[in-house]
Amino acid sequence: MIQILDKSFDVYIPEATLEARIKALAEDINQAYAGRTPLFVSVLNGSFMFTATLFKYLTIPCEITFIRVASYHGTASTGSVKEVLGLQENPADRDIILLEDIIDTGRTLEALLPLFGTARSVAVATLLFKPEALQANLDIAYVGFEIPNRFVVGYGLDYLGQGRNLPCVYQLWEG
Ligand code: IMP
Ligand code: MG
Repeated sequence: MIQILDKSFDVYIPEATLEARIKALAEDINQAYAGRTPLFVSVLNGSFMFTATLFKYLTIPCEITFIRVASYHGTASTGSVKEVLGLQENPADRDIILLEDIIDTGRTLEALLPLFGTARSVAVATLLFKPEALQANLDIAYVGFEIPNRFVVGYGLDYLGQGRNLPCVYQLWEG
């Protein structure tokens, strides 16, 4: 059990389990994108650790860029997505793979997809997915873990800015 500000969390996905699953996702991507040089677009802040781990296991030629969005405050989605740092690379005719830490309502992703209208293809890879919270019609090609609709922190995800450094995924303690 750990404490972040006013809330307690317990381990939900251990570090070794995360690493093994992300390695398997990278191997799937290596096969699916052989010969294509995809452009990965990592959605900051939360995706930085997932992105770093995934990248260690990619063996195909590939490029990466980062965009930054924010839609959460505390433990609930605000519903509005503010793009903070925009896309610098031209996605035209590229095979884009968006990297997300978590898909909750799906609104962030829904707001980002129009940026890639000229791409040759767009796929989404997310470390975590909360199917019960989804409020958008999205096709998610690569999912690390489907999780229940409970707030989580660690491995890049935060609670009020803290907890991103934790090497495991923790869930809110409701005991
Ligand atoms: P969505 O737009 O509702 O799908 O949520 C998008 C963003 O909200 C994610 O990229 C995260 O940054 C954040 N988020 C959603 N669920 C959680 C959670 O359980 N813990 C921490 N951040 C979350
Ligand atoms: Mg995020």
